[in-house]
Amino acid sequence: MCGIVGYIGSRDIISVLLVALERLEYRGYDSCGIAVSYQGRIFIKKTAGRLFKLKEILNSSPLFSHEEGETLIGIGHTRWATHGKVSDENAHPFLDCEKKLAIVHNGIIENFQELKERLINNGHKFESETDTEVIVHLLEEKIKKDHISEKDFLKALSETLKELKGSFALCLISPLFDFLIGIKKGSPLLCGIGKNEGMIASDILALVGICKKVYIMEDGEICFLKKDKVNFYNENGEKIEKDAQTLDLKVKEVSKGRYRHFMRKEIFEQPKILTENLEKRLYDKEILLGESFHLYPEDIKHITNIVIQACGTSYHAGLIGRDYFERISEIPTTVEIASELISRPFLFNNNTLMIAISQSGETADTLAALRAAKERKIKSLAILNVKRSSMDREADNVIFINAGPEIGVASTKAYTAQIFNLFILALYFALIREKINTEKLNNYLKELKTIPEKIKKTLLLDKIIKRVAKKYYNSPHFVFLGRGINYPSALEGALKLKEISYIHAAGYPAGEMKHGPISVISEETPVICICVKDSTYEKMISNIMEAKARGGRIITIGNENDKRLKEISEDVFYLPATIEFLTPLLVAIPLQLFAYHIACLRGCDVDKPRHLAKSVTVL
Ligand code: F6R
Repeated sequence: MCGIVGYIGSRDIISVLLVALERLEYRGYDSCGIAVSYQGRIFIKKTAGRLFKLKEILNSSPLFSHEEGETLIGIGHTRWATHGKVSDENAHPFLDCEKKLAIVHNGIIENFQELKERLINNGHKFESETDTEVIVHLLEEKIKKDHISEKDFLKALSETLKELKGSFALCLISPLFDFLIGIKKGSPLLCGIGKNEGMIASDILALVGICKKVYIMEDGEICFLKKDKVNFYNENGEKIEKDAQTLDLKVKEVSKGRYRHFMRKEIFEQPKILTENLEKRLYDKEILLGESFHLYPEDIKHITNIVIQACGTSYHAGLIGRDYFERISEIPTTVEIASELISRPFLFNNNTLMIAISQSGETADTLAALRAAKERKIKSLAILNVKRSSMDREADNVIFINAGPEIGVASTKAYTAQIFNLFILALYFALIREKINTEKLNNYLKELKTIPEKIKKTLLLDKIIKRVAKKYYNSPHFVFLGRGINYPSALEGALKLKEISYIHAAGYPAGEMKHGPISVISEETPVICICVKDSTYEKMISNIMEAKARGGRIITIGNENDKRLKEISEDVFYLPATIEFLTPLLVAIPLQLFAYHIACLRGCDVDKPRHLAKSVTVL
């Protein structure tokens, strides 16, 4: 959580920092701030609230005036509060007492209380309730105020780091130096270089358009970034060499384009993403899982069970994956919420395969469960969107879902791309384990290839869904029902709706309703029922009738030409037909659009829902 950024170069530094913060805002957005070092002073502006408020402040009272083209160094922060309420005082950056250091921080300093007490006893004055502020005061104790060599500063920095417990990524500036400082321990941090300029940021999106090369920092690493070169050090202050990678993202990929929201853009990108995935994953009749997948056929044959672990939407994709692994590959599979798994005994054996699913590759709980598996020598495979993320580096095997940057906080295109890749993986396992013959495989693949076109067709429901959303958007509570492979779709539909519209919504396995939840249905309760023509269809119809009999307002998602649904529902969203395994890919579309339109009608901030952050990097 929290986005941090630093820039050194001669562009308009305020604009560069604000654009970068806009791209990082999905990580947290309850307060923000920037600081720039200029002519021996640090200029700072920060505020509780969103970035537009900071922009207004900067417009009405500019930070400072300077000559165009001068090289300047600055940092910025967008916050997701952990220690300390949301307030101007608790917004980053923070300064030391002498105002010679400014810092932004992502992560948590676990021992900040004891450090703070010690520092207060030594005479330091604190201005916030945050854990972050201790870092600058701690460092201040170790440096002489007016002059310090680069070498001594590095020593002071590594001594400071040794005192900090927790996980963090830091970006620091000081008028004492002509470089930007980045430090990584536990939270992601990248250092990028362009032409006579450079950036440090918690996410690659911030670097796009400025940096051509990027260095992925590892835990314990420090960088001193000058406008024309960068030096890296380990936590003992010893110089290290690192290899840069090419930054291949384009500005277009990280902008909204003609869309009003990133979420909408990302929903509409789904046919293209699945088409690209088809191209990447299938060559002739062969399944290709990419160069980071290293499991040998012998390993696959010996897998006794799979444990999938993930959070939120990725967990829902995992529940669908369980169906694939059990029904297609015939491997016993369990699915765990990562934050729960880490507090349970790991009763898995050496032939268990752990599959971690994560869009960001940074979710702290998923990462912790992955690390716990590694410690116990359990083989791991991560299904990820973000390359060079922590899970990419730490999992034994990785399959990328190739969804491109997902910026809307609500996950949409990553979800369908995860399901797609889980299906492909299950087919691959089934082939190796001889659970599927060529004819069946070809039939599955043939149908899979039709999905992008079918999603395109489903997206045409947009106008109808908007019209239906207008009828229901004031309802205080929604119920989502599904069975079998679409029970996770019901969970996902409810999650999408509640996270972006703030309406309470609950997803249930439809068969479970009569064991309690049915009592929440009254007249006026919209009940969204997933009732495609699959093996659960007849049972689903009965469950719909039960909900209807209790006054529920029935909205169904079903297949074209299903006249029965029209008779029993107030509204129906019709989908093209496909095989049962692939229905969640189509069902996801009306669920996403329904949540989107309801949230827009309620005036919610669709891309940045309250209290949330896209990348949850705290446990
Ligand atoms: C919901 C959503 C979250 C994430 C969850 C896991 O729309 O985006 O529930 O799915 O925080 O994130 P990743 O997949 O990055 O591990």
